[in-house]
Amino acid sequence: MLALGMPATAQVFPVTTAQVFPVIPAPVQVQEAAGVPNTSKELSRKVGKAAFAKKTAQLPAWAREEAYLLTVTPKGYRVEANTETGYARALQTLAQVDRCCTVYDYPRFPYRGFMLDISRHHRDKDFIIKQMEALASVKINQLHLHLTDDAGWRLEIERYPLLTRQAAWRVGEQWKDWVSGGYKYAIEGTSEASGGYLTKADVREILAAGKRLHMTVIPEIEMPGHSGEVISAYPALGCKEGSEEFCPGKEATFNFLEGVLEEVMELFPSEFIHIGGDEASKKDWAGCPDCQARMQAEGLASVEELQSYLVKRIERYLNAHGRKLLGWDEILEGGLSPNATVMSWRGTEGGIQAMQEGHEAIMTPGDYCYINNAQDAPLYEPLGQGGFLSLDNVYGYDPLKGVPQELSHLLLGVQANLWQEHVPTPEHTEYMMYPRVAAIAERGWSPEARADFRERVTRWNDQLGASGYHVFDLHKERGERDAYKNGYKHLAVGKKVTYNTPWHRRYPAAQEATLTDGLGGGWSYKDDRWQGFLSDIDVTLDLGCVEELHYVGATFMCVPGPGIFLPKEVQVWTSLDGISYTLAGHSACEMKEPVISYILFGTPVEAKARYIRFQAKRSREWLFIDEIVVK
Ligand code: ACM
Ligand code: ZN
Repeated sequence: MLALGMPATAQVFPVTTAQVFPVIPAPVQVQEAAGVPNTSKELSRKVGKAAFAKKTAQLPAWAREEAYLLTVTPKGYRVEANTETGYARALQTLAQVDRCCTVYDYPRFPYRGFMLDISRHHRDKDFIIKQMEALASVKINQLHLHLTDDAGWRLEIERYPLLTRQAAWRVGEQWKDWVSGGYKYAIEGTSEASGGYLTKADVREILAAGKRLHMTVIPEIEMPGHSGEVISAYPALGCKEGSEEFCPGKEATFNFLEGVLEEVMELFPSEFIHIGGDEASKKDWAGCPDCQARMQAEGLASVEELQSYLVKRIERYLNAHGRKLLGWDEILEGGLSPNATVMSWRGTEGGIQAMQEGHEAIMTPGDYCYINNAQDAPLYEPLGQGGFLSLDNVYGYDPLKGVPQELSHLLLGVQANLWQEHVPTPEHTEYMMYPRVAAIAERGWSPEARADFRERVTRWNDQLGASGYHVFDLHKERGERDAYKNGYKHLAVGKKVTYNTPWHRRYPAAQEATLTDGLGGGWSYKDDRWQGFLSDIDVTLDLGCVEELHYVGATFMCVPGPGIFLPKEVQVWTSLDGISYTLAGHSACEMKEPVISYILFGTPVEAKARYIRFQAKRSREWLFIDEIVVK
């Protein structure tokens, strides 16, 4: 791929002014010149292979398409490009240029995407087109619309009118109305109904905007999981009453899916059709006579293979219509269909495995690309998913991270995802998108990460804010937790810990060392400094010699979204010999309405001891601590 095979892709001409060249994504080559730029007068426009082929001869075809040469002088500007797309990219750069310059530029990856989930909270066509304008300004070239999910179906399908009469509407607008107890669907036009959908005319307007902005719009139709809204409207497509997933044993399911996809393909010209495929529980399949009959007839050994049967059959249908199947990385399970492209979200392993099997992949790992996580201290952010993903975290992700060099030609690119369970308003959507989408845009386009990104992105984001977007204000960013940056100092740092109950294997942090390593966790429980317990905590510390003690506690996190709460009580026992212990202190934690908090909670003790036994009683699901603090 370009990033590896091409020499000197990372070269940037020396900057001749003190100020950074303000463009996002940073171009491949920039030569600055003197004079006041005239960015409104086009002096020449050479578009077509004859114009520009020589300069770009060494690039892969997809990079040649978007490559451009832009010269800005006091008299006006000139553009050379191989295609209209390259020309559009030049103008996207021109819109950010504030000085005379020559820019030679082309992308690092062909796919630079943003996914918007409009199932959980619907967004209308005008809002979507407004976001496309901002996304295109930083050369995002793929808009993936998550159109269907349990929370609501968002696309008009003429063959199946109940999808939009019924499955597009639910009782309760706010996520708090439906996170506990599941979704209740409503009928279009009734007073309790909230939701909506895109008509085919709406989609045509979105697609026209995509054409103008040289952005592909990829529809996602979820199957076989995340499909409760469909089965509520057409119950015969589930295994049994109340099923929330398609029954792959029934021919009716395939008739329905192919009927929907036929209309989807009539509408959307994108080569990729995304079929979801993630998080299917498959829980009704084992007990379903139709599924069992299908497994027997097709020689399928497991429900994973049954899912794979569905995906492969849908792939054949899409391929027969000249389209390519794209799916979340679960489509690897039970055997990947022959031509599928994998979108890797549960880390990067799925994408790498797909590439090892000769498939193309798009990276969108949750730890870097899920911009539904809070971008700043969750204490002060709108209540959300519970994670933390700052602009710097997103920008720190190199899509080639972990990808063996010999496979990198199969990596199409990178995508930011915005799941909208906790994003109730259009303003909130924009707040989550900007500025973080710019970090993905630059890592997908520019040859390398650059130290001046923050300065450039702040300028871009401020301009977006001034032009009517509800952006996150980078000037007010608080950043990581102090404990993460500065660590802890106390008597037990580096001392031995014995676990009387195990940490949870999913969140082991630095294992034995975690609780006395002096390292503070960040805002996210997933940052490998927080240790998770699905039980009471019971650990013993050996200080190595007798010390005078005044306080023992631990730093706990409470993040109700993912089920992390403060303890009911802590108890501290001390011992001189490690055999006989006395209760040295205890403290009950009064939990009223749980709110996001990070607190040192413990008890005063007055004792001389070498050994400390620290116990914390669980109140609900998870306990997470990053350090036991002894003073
Ligand atoms: C996903 O986040 N379930 C793809
Ligand atoms: Zn079934």
